Amino acid sequence: MAAYEYETHDYDVVVVGAGGAGLRATLGMAEQGLRTACVTKVFPTRSHTVAAQGGIAASLSNMGPDHWQWHMYDTVKGSDWLGDTDAMEYLAREAPKAVYELEHYGVPFSRTEEGKIYQRPFGGHTTEFGEGPPVQRTCAAADRTGHAILHTLYGQSLKQKAEFYIEYFAIDLIMSDDGACTGVVCWKLDDGTIHVFNAKMVVLATGGYGRAYFSATSAHTCTGDGGGMVARAGLPLQDMEFVQFHPTGIYGSGCLITEGARGEGGYLTNSEGERFMERYAPNYKDLAPRDYVSRSMTMEIREGRGVGTHGDHIHLNLSHLPKEALQLRLPGISESARIFAGVDVTKEPIPVLPTVHYNMGGIPTNYWGEVLNPTAKDPNNILPGLMAVGEAGCASVHGANRLGSNSLIDLVVFGRAAAIRAGNVVDAESAVPATNTAHVDKALDRFDGLRHADGAVSTADLRLEMQKTMQEDAAVFRTSKTLADGLKKMGEIAGKLDDLQVTDRSLVWNSDLMETLELTNLMPNALATIAGAEARQESRGAHAHEDFPDRDDKTWRVHTIARVDGNKTSLEYRPVIEAPLSTEKEGGISLKKIAPKERTF
Ligand code: FUM
Repeated sequence: MAAYEYETHDYDVVVVGAGGAGLRATLGMAEQGLRTACVTKVFPTRSHTVAAQGGIAASLSNMGPDHWQWHMYDTVKGSDWLGDTDAMEYLAREAPKAVYELEHYGVPFSRTEEGKIYQRPFGGHTTEFGEGPPVQRTCAAADRTGHAILHTLYGQSLKQKAEFYIEYFAIDLIMSDDGACTGVVCWKLDDGTIHVFNAKMVVLATGGYGRAYFSATSAHTCTGDGGGMVARAGLPLQDMEFVQFHPTGIYGSGCLITEGARGEGGYLTNSEGERFMERYAPNYKDLAPRDYVSRSMTMEIREGRGVGTHGDHIHLNLSHLPKEALQLRLPGISESARIFAGVDVTKEPIPVLPTVHYNMGGIPTNYWGEVLNPTAKDPNNILPGLMAVGEAGCASVHGANRLGSNSLIDLVVFGRAAAIRAGNVVDAESAVPATNTAHVDKALDRFDGLRHADGAVSTADLRLEMQKTMQEDAAVFRTSKTLADGLKKMGEIAGKLDDLQVTDRSLVWNSDLMETLELTNLMPNALATIAGAEARQESRGAHAHEDFPDRDDKTWRVHTIARVDGNKTSLEYRPVIEAPLSTEKEGGISLKKIAPKERTF
């Protein structure tokens, strides 16, 4: 057994991760007087939410008529009928309240002439239950909305006396002998000390796992740490096969060019200068949802109409927009295009390509953020002591495809919901659970084993092998063959985790060890993704299966529940929640309106 001393900290709540969801949860918990710690591997304002550009969806009706029911309908249709209806209703209904709260906390939103929050169009957001024109629903702070939200929430959390443990890496969850979560074991990166956090509630807000792929808009820190810890605790991951490709990653670097660019009037063209989206989505054109646009772009390239020397990308045109509009509404992407593509957007198109952007799947939860551990008897069985919010969780509000700007609203609505729920279920007067030392020892044995790993494969090489395999075999379009090959290869790649070589044995700022821990987190996420995709014999949302091109609601309108053990993944399925929170009589949406139908734009 590895001998490490550790310092113990007791809290009512420990939030792991300080992006938009983690900070909103932290703030909400602390506001209610719960003793709250937020543990984060990066400085809070460097969390990946800082990169969110285009905005946050809420039916404020500042730019024209809108309604929460229209937002809910769009989210249901966007999800390709895989989202849980209660969660989608909760999101759309609570969104305006959550945005006004942000405004009052101090988020510097862009303004209309009348001083209201400025809203722009985004893909898949419509009026009149998909029958009317696009709606301006996405509230924006220029094209730096995530940045603005993150800074505001961090300041507000400090004001509420939440305690931050910055540059602490979460190694593993601590579970009680009767299966509840009671804390987390962490490694402090700057001095090498080990810390055990005991808590009545642990909230995982660790973000997505975009870095399981070779080309992603996600930060290098997006390594699915929550999913990895959950998988090692024997808990499941849900709907991991649904990976969103954002249509406009900069060709080569993968940097994000916001969908807000198309919202402000930008459009895509092929090598013939044709605005091809008019053929694929005659009504909404460049403002169709992301899965639609990414597939259309891929089809253009495949059919020989890509741009550039190798005909392997597409152009995004903004040069027809007034210079002042570009400066006012899209200053950040104008700069990114110059730095990462060498392009002056006032004169030239930006070379773009669909790039991995978001994970619809994650740790299964209900709409309060409580983690589910489905059983045969109870598909909605709650695991005590553990919540998951933001991209780490799967509520499931995005189903098979997320609408742009529904991510930032997911972070704050469900971060806030987790805090409301914790306020009801966490007793501030009760004792904090005692440390389960056997679990801590197990976590530290794993940590020590990796620290002294002396095999033949470097972390960087194995990570690259995983990323290339995922990029090739679980791409925008998938076939039975690519998925079966990918599943086999990923099993072999995951097997090599036992043969890793870590060269730095120190405990202080050991980035070799940290990246190795991250790789052990990425791997179960990647395995669940490809196993879920290989099994799902239909096409739905972001899962475009060329051998099964149609959606099959009879067999496949179910959530995939994946449990990863080593390099093996076992799959079960959980029914989609079809009932909304409120009936039509109570002011809710009509069931007829949200019944599954063909998804066209
Ligand atoms: O395109 C964007 O600005 C990204 C927004 C989102 O993913 O919601």
